[in-house]
Amino acid sequence: MKIQALKGFKDIVPGEVELWQHLETVARDVFARFHFSEIRLPILEETELFARSIGEATDIVEKEMYTFVDKKITMRPEATASLLRAYIEHSLYAQKPVQRLFTIGPMFRHERPQKGRLRQFHQMDIEVLGSENPRIDAELMAMGAMLLKELGITVSLELNSLGCPDCRPAYRAQLVSYITDRLPSLCSDCQRRSVTNPLRVLDCKVPACREQMEGAPSIQEHLCDGCSDHFQKVQAGLRQLGVVFSLNKFMVRGLDYYCRTTFEFITSDLGAQAAVGAGGRYDGLVETLGGPKNTPGIGFALGMERLVLLLQQQETAVTEGAGLDLFIAGIGEQGVHAGFGLAHEIRTVRSVAMDHEGRSLKSQMKQANKAGARFVLIIGDTELASGHGILRNMKTEEQQNVLLSGPAIIGCI
Ligand code: HAM
Repeated sequence: MKIQALKGFKDIVPGEVELWQHLETVARDVFARFHFSEIRLPILEETELFARSIGEATDIVEKEMYTFVDKKITMRPEATASLLRAYIEHSLYAQKPVQRLFTIGPMFRHERPQKGRLRQFHQMDIEVLGSENPRIDAELMAMGAMLLKELGITVSLELNSLGCPDCRPAYRAQLVSYITDRLPSLCSDCQRRSVTNPLRVLDCKVPACREQMEGAPSIQEHLCDGCSDHFQKVQAGLRQLGVVFSLNKFMVRGLDYYCRTTFEFITSDLGAQAAVGAGGRYDGLVETLGGPKNTPGIGFALGMERLVLLLQQQETAVTEGAGLDLFIAGIGEQGVHAGFGLAHEIRTVRSVAMDHEGRSLKSQMKQANKAGARFVLIIGDTELASGHGILRNMKTEEQQNVLLSGPAIIGCI
């Protein structure tokens, strides 16, 4: 019996992995231009970390986490909580007033798998800690937009503000009263959420619920002066940087830690899994996790599987395979033996592959072609006797004799 990968867990095989590498290379370049530093974090954390930050009443914490119940540890469902835990643990706030950090890696959520939705998926997560300046919000969204543009991916940016602990309770009360009047027409999930997490009723995807919520009060009209001013300045910042966005009063996000700015990068090319990236502000979360008071923060995460799907849909191949500088075709035991030593020497500066199994020259030329080798070095008995191999340029088909020494070959390829 074959053993297969778990449902929702996927291998990334050669042929596809090049797109992932391309994605990461472009992203790292953009992050560096915006002066972000990388942080690497563990996959397992105390369950309490996620319960306290993401929220007990969220889908993620209620039903999607992979938890070792007896050990009270969980495989991270997202990176923000872990990153903040590390920020506090290592007193990173003491090193710089504003920390700009990113991390890349796998996350785990027990969701129903479908196109663009996996149980192990990967995020590029970016966080700025220590500033509540609305320019930071605009700058982060502009960076996301720049990265997606450089990848050739078209998205729209949707923006909302969720207010703060001062203005949200009054809005929440109004919303609950609006929902209560329509409760019988809402789906069972929304009926439950009307008590546990009423804001989430706003982004229910069930058409009947959407219709009912169409006229719901908008949080944007219930912001306190501080939040309203902040929201206006975020929008002004986006306009200054030429980032196109639209306001979406229904966007509330599935994690409880947000306040003020929330945003999503949306694609129309992936069916139901439309969000390729999302995030927002979470002032107060650092303190909730035991860090210093008044440490604001904002960030977002891009879903790498979804970005790779979009790259695959592009007509032009984004990247070619890693390619190969040289394929050494040894003919006969002595030829292979000489090639074996040369390959090792040349690999100090160039990529080299060879066949160790004594296959025919024809078969080795096929392998070289398939690997995209730029040159092939042929070494048979005649070449060994003369001390010169045949070096073939696979593009021009020109051949030359070259001394069978590492430096001589390196000089020719
Ligand atoms: P999130 O909206 O849960 O936010 O996830 C961010 C992105 O990760 C989504 O927009 C999507 O592209 C991708 N994603 C989420 N779940 C899956 C899945 N099951 N399969 C494939 N891709 C998925 C967060 O995780 C927040 N921590 C973002 C953040 C950072 N907020 C502030 N800082």
